[in-house]
Amino acid sequence: MTGTHLAAILPEKRARLQVVERATPEPGPNEVVIEVKAIALNPIDYSQRDTGMPPVPVYPAVLGCDVAGVVAKVGANITTAPAPGSRVLAMATSFFHDGSPDHGAFQKYTLAQSEAVVALPDAISFEQGATLPICFMTALNAWVTIGISLDTRYAPEDKQAVLIWGGASSVGTFAVQTAKLLGFRVYVTASPWHHEYLETLGAHAVFDYHASDVVSQIVDAVNRDGVALHTAHCVVIGSLQPTLDVLKETKGASAARVVYSPPLLPDHPTLDGVEIKWNFPPMQSEAVLNKHMYECFHVWLRNGLESGTIVPSPPVQIEDGGLEGLNAALDKLKVGVSGRKIVLQI
Ligand SMILES: NC(=O)c1ccc[n+]([C@@H]2O[C@H](COP(=O)([O-])OP(=O)(O)OC[C@H]3O[C@@H](n4cnc5c(N)ncnc54)[C@H](OP(=O)(O)O)[C@@H]3O)[C@@H](O)[C@H]2O)c1
Repeated sequence: MTGTHLAAILPEKRARLQVVERATPEPGPNEVVIEVKAIALNPIDYSQRDTGMPPVPVYPAVLGCDVAGVVAKVGANITTAPAPGSRVLAMATSFFHDGSPDHGAFQKYTLAQSEAVVALPDAISFEQGATLPICFMTALNAWVTIGISLDTRYAPEDKQAVLIWGGASSVGTFAVQTAKLLGFRVYVTASPWHHEYLETLGAHAVFDYHASDVVSQIVDAVNRDGVALHTAHCVVIGSLQPTLDVLKETKGASAARVVYSPPLLPDHPTLDGVEIKWNFPPMQSEAVLNKHMYECFHVWLRNGLESGTIVPSPPVQIEDGGLEGLNAALDKLKVGVSGRKIVLQI
């Protein structure tokens, strides 16, 4: 593409984003140039801006992972959808592209690889579409991380349960939706004002994590329901110890598996017979990662959005200012949100 576009760049480590003109890139053979209409924010964005972690390999950097918009141009190897003019959502992240600023989300035109670009049904707005990419993929990565194949479909008589600690978070809402589709009976923690919403997404029972007896409440429900709870996704910081407290009572003599999404510190709590793994996509090779991304976006997400079995979540909270508003919106996310996804219109 000839010309330039506006981008919010991070000029150096621990700086504020600045809006500047950048050259608009050409797509690689398997890539799509997207005219960005909406950007969603994630904790990794303010962490990279304010601490440089996870590492930012190239400065000036273009941060961000989640966009929705319109296809502007497609690479030579892309012969079918998405055609130019299509409404799409995409995971546009320099994280999987050696820090390449052309692939970051915080700009008017970004590059995404075709495996991570999905057509947006007409009923889903750009703002809603932007809530999905990285958090949806993270929810699926979690199952794969602890050895649960994405082909798994438990039947009710299998009595397989899962605990999702932090269900109202962005990743948590997709953990709930995908756990239901895998066939788990889904036990979730969240603040009380989110319980009804999480039940609409697929939670069988939701517990207020502020309650001093939340662990025994969950254990009692599992025992009453007569299900096997050996599996958990800890979505938020601080969720590992109470999750292990639950599993101690519910796993019996069986082995249990826990996937933890925030950074897993070396001195994290442990429990005999429980395997604890940090949530990360399969990256043994580029081919393995691309196949996994295709399964996440083109098998699970495209089909889920078309059939209505996956819905954008949680509700969006639109912040003003477009690219110029990103610093303030990231500051707001850093303070904390409750069951909302911060989105900017671009
Ligand atoms: N490993 C990976 O690949 C990967 C990828 C993406 C994100 N992450 C990480 O995943 C985590 C979640 O990210 P996110 O964007 O989904 O977060 P988020 O939406 O910002 O999380 C906010 C929610 O966290 C909930 N929460 C906070 N403390 C809680 C607690 N003690 N128990 C239960 N819920 C609690 C709050 O629930 P209530 O409103 O109910 O109070 C709030 O709604 C972050 O640490 C992020 O860095 C990891």
